[in-house]
Amino acid sequence: MTPDLTLRGFQIYERFLNADAQQKLVERLRKTAARTPPFQPVLPSGRRMSVRMTSFGRLGWVADTKGYRYAAHHPNGAPWPAIPDEVLEIWDAVSGVSRAPDCCLMNYYAEDTKMGMHQDRDEGEFQWPVVSVSLGDDALFRMGNVTRGGSTESIWLRSGDVVVMGGDARLAYHGVDRIAFGTSPLLAKGGRLNLTLRVVAPTFQPTS
Ligand code: SIN
Ligand code: MN
Repeated sequence: MTPDLTLRGFQIYERFLNADAQQKLVERLRKTAARTPPFQPVLPSGRRMSVRMTSFGRLGWVADTKGYRYAAHHPNGAPWPAIPDEVLEIWDAVSGVSRAPDCCLMNYYAEDTKMGMHQDRDEGEFQWPVVSVSLGDDALFRMGNVTRGGSTESIWLRSGDVVVMGGDARLAYHGVDRIAFGTSPLLAKGGRLNLTLRVVAPTFQPTS
């Protein structure tokens, strides 16, 4: 597949999922995460993250007062559910690699939630792309450089959009400045879901 646009190496597929597919996917995610509900981590700094998160797959990305890491279980002790097939189909269509992702992180952005500029670099191997799926309210996504600082470029991501961060963009800084609350009817309470699919090093063994 060819992206609709590429900005700084970030490949953007606009409205990859139509309204019907978005609705079905949200319902599937909701049911699949019933025993592993989104939680709001408290960081080593004592600050509470503004997003609520949960994961699907062999490994889940967690944050708590000990820091960030991949773990085999939800903080409530339950194993992460498998990544839904609908999500794996998106990965297969756009990632360009035959290796399946190990983790699908799901972040929920309520009104006034943002995500500071960061790199995705807890995976151990960076030759695999990261695939991100937007569902719900519009989000102002900012793309930077492989080192902190410098010029940035922003784009509004809309429900159903898919972004692939591979090649030069794999370790590029990125973040979400804000969401435009109430711009999408997809989620009953408003807000935005973002799915981030990642390969973690195949030999990676979680410690918790
Ligand atoms: C992230 O990079 O962690 C999330 C990106 C997004 O929400 O679009
Ligand atoms: Mn990220």
